[in-house]
Amino acid sequence: MGSIKILPDLLVSQIAAGEVVERPASALKELLENSIDSGATEISVHLHEGGTKLIRVVDNGSGIDRNELNLALTRHATSKIATLEELHKVGSLGFRGEALASIAAVSRLELVSRKKDQDHGWKIDSESGKTLPSAGGFGTSVEVADIYFNTPARRKFLKSASTEYAHCAEVFKRIALSSPQVAFTLQHNGKAQWQLKASSLEGRISDILGEEFGKAAFLLEEDSSGLAIRGAAAKPAYAASTREDQYFFVNGRFVRDKLLSHAVRQAYQDVLHHQMHPAFALFLAIEPGEIDVNVHPAKTEIRFRESRAIHQFVFHALEKGLSPPAARPSFSPARAEHAYNPVQHKIDWGVAQPSDFYEKFMEKPEASHEPAEEFPLGFAIGQLSGIYILAQNGEGLVVVDMHAAHERIVYEKLKSGNRQFAMQPLLIPATFIPTPLEAETALGNQALLSEMGFDISSLSPTTLVVRAIPALLKGADAAALARAVLRDMGEFGGSRSVTERRNELLATMACHGAVRAKRMLTLAEMNALLREMEATERSGQCNHGRPTWFQLPLSDLDKMFMRGK
Ligand SMILES: Nc1ncnc2c1ncn2[C@@H]1O[C@H](COP(=O)(O)OP(=O)(O)O)[C@@H](O)[C@H]1O
Ligand SMILES: [Mg+2]
Repeated sequence: MGSIKILPDLLVSQIAAGEVVERPASALKELLENSIDSGATEISVHLHEGGTKLIRVVDNGSGIDRNELNLALTRHATSKIATLEELHKVGSLGFRGEALASIAAVSRLELVSRKKDQDHGWKIDSESGKTLPSAGGFGTSVEVADIYFNTPARRKFLKSASTEYAHCAEVFKRIALSSPQVAFTLQHNGKAQWQLKASSLEGRISDILGEEFGKAAFLLEEDSSGLAIRGAAAKPAYAASTREDQYFFVNGRFVRDKLLSHAVRQAYQDVLHHQMHPAFALFLAIEPGEIDVNVHPAKTEIRFRESRAIHQFVFHALEKGLSPPAARPSFSPARAEHAYNPVQHKIDWGVAQPSDFYEKFMEKPEASHEPAEEFPLGFAIGQLSGIYILAQNGEGLVVVDMHAAHERIVYEKLKSGNRQFAMQPLLIPATFIPTPLEAETALGNQALLSEMGFDISSLSPTTLVVRAIPALLKGADAAALARAVLRDMGEFGGSRSVTERRNELLATMACHGAVRAKRMLTLAEMNALLREMEATERSGQCNHGRPTWFQLPLSDLDKMFMRGK
């Protein structure tokens, strides 16, 4: 080891650049944030080769004074905060004063700027630090060429131009979403990719996430003391298998935050299969003093002071939008609950059937008006392919996906309380050969399993035996159900996370407990299912986000057959 020396400034900036300028897209992000902070209303971006050859950002914002051009490229020089107090309340996107210096340290950077009171612009040469007169309109233009030309180690980590471009485009979309009042253009290799007019938030969201999303989304707007959320989120049917279209902003800053994604996931988990991802663009506004954005140089992480309250707020705002009244269009849950008669629980799988109404309905079809109102899903007329229940109500034909509907009902029942987990001992215990993880999970979580209505123990070193399952699921294949539950529990790890992810586990159980396709039902059983659907919250959607029933009005059938023409 040599003697201790202070590092040269350029080297310090190059080291810092490792954090701030991870790839071209991170440089683009910093430049765009500076343009937004400058109050620009028009921003244009030119990229070459995914930003590896060139990133140019031109804005019409406040500009930088000729005498401060040098400072703008100096490390820890910023116009945005001056004291610790201001740091704690920072409202601008930038504040660390190190982006331009870092980018300049690893690229050939050219900065041109013109303030409103200047006759012409000024350009600074980042190597000599000299300023020269330059042409150009009001505002600032930053050109970053040949990124990492002087840091070969970094350059090696650059991916293909198309990959780097994809990252840049993502950054561009995030910034564009966060500032709908600003008009943006993006060109790549001379070709226009995006052209966005200034717009409302809703308009910008549908520009960026697409028309399909716009159609499938619901708008969100909630306010409570010191907190507000706005934006749009897709209904479950639109869900995708990737996390691509998930945008969360806090005070205009795109963030990836565990707490917030957890709140979103929790709101969706009842209506979405857990391998699917919801699409959303959400904007949370909060007192700047309530958060700490200075956690990481890239500022995509954030800390909340009142994390619980924020979690609850986001969760409830989304849940509200996701829980429309059950069984639309003509359904009134209150009325159905009155009609529901628990005394008449006679069907094997635990659903009620007000049989007198049903019988009257079948006897006197001309009196169909009244019961149709009382029972919006009508009365069964048969089963199609062992999959669908066909029913008749006041409006016409109702088609029900039997498995999906029953799954929803079982799930809601499981959720509703512990008494649902009464054990049902099996006449013939089921055995299976577990994987090592299944075995370990079973033997390590005995208390939890019995709380949930399972009796699973080891029969031999290589065999597990299931002696009881929850009574509510008594029709299920016991071994398959037990394995699914063990797999989920093993995946979640530890009983604490099982508590947190209880609903996911219940969804798995419901899926196994629900009546299988191809099982033949009697009319009475079908009607019982319809009544139960009416009485169940959110029965219009199964746990995997699929619809559970469909109305085919008589008028549509008439049209099909060209009646009345
Ligand atoms: N596009 C721009 N328009 C106006 N001023 C800018 C622009 N880009 C940078 N600046 C000025 O240069 C300073 C340094 O920028 P930067 O290194 O990104 O640090 P920070 O944004 O954290 O302050 C900013 O504080 C700002 O005063
Ligand atoms: Mg900045």
